[in-house]
Amino acid sequence: MSTVFATYNVKGGVGKTSAAVNLARLAASGGAPTLLWDLDPQGASTYLFRVKPKVKGGGKALVRGRSDVDALIKGTDHEGLDLLPADFSYRHMDLALDGAKKPTARLARVLEPLAGEYEYTFLDCPPSVSLVSESVFEAADVLLVPIIPATLSSRTFDQIEQLLSDEGPRVMAFFSMVDRRKRLHREVMRQLRDEQPAAVLETAIPAAADVERMGAQRRPIADFAPRSAAARAYGALWQEIRTRL
Ligand SMILES: Nc1ncnc2c1ncn2[C@@H]1O[C@H](COP(=O)(O)OP(=O)(O)OP(=O)(O)O)[C@@H](O)[C@H]1O
Ligand SMILES: [Mg+2]
Repeated sequence: MSTVFATYNVKGGVGKTSAAVNLARLAASGGAPTLLWDLDPQGASTYLFRVKPKVKGGGKALVRGRSDVDALIKGTDHEGLDLLPADFSYRHMDLALDGAKKPTARLARVLEPLAGEYEYTFLDCPPSVSLVSESVFEAADVLLVPIIPATLSSRTFDQIEQLLSDEGPRVMAFFSMVDRRKRLHREVMRQLRDEQPAAVLETAIPAAADVERMGAQRRPIADFAPRSAAARAYGALWQEIRTRL
């Protein structure tokens, strides 16, 4: 049985892709066969793993069950880590789902035949509230929600909780791009931890230029700055997530 994680937030630019890429790399290097599915038509995690953003037949055939998903999966430079790439056609994924039977069950269906092959699956989601995200909620066991500790983050968190049904995935939120020198960041973190003690993880990812450098390096941070504060933070985050499973 594979544990399916989705990095999700209604907001863009909060660290979803950075988390998906680094955590998937850590999962694989720990010896667990791992798959990352880049659901974002912009293909940022596909780019970071140096894979061509191309899915034969496109997103529609894939979610309608007309593609052999095994044939679409690519290897990465990392032992034990495979990628189901993004494709520009994913920008119409909502339409493709809308025309299907049981649209919200579709992503889970795509992953079903792979459950025996991968110990961990990561879904890197585009920032949206859509049929795609509803479908993600059905497919995922755990939503990993990066939250920048700024003024409205408490509201963002409430919005996400409202989207989820009772049978939905567990939520593990974590603070992202944290600057501990900012009083606002410290205050918002304290407040949200008080409000949501069960859902907010201890580990926070600091704002760090090393994370941004991933774009130029096209590698997870552990590959080029393993002793950096940010690499250690992702390591601690992965540890904490696993102990909470
Ligand atoms: N901890 C961090 N410190 C500094 N910069 C960061 C950090 N995390 C992410 N970034 C940078 O912020 C930008 C957005 O990060 P990322 O792509 O991970 O977010 P996202 O939530 O996936 O965005 P999108 O919603 O566009 O998919 C990127 O340029 C990334 O390099
Ligand atoms: Mg992203």
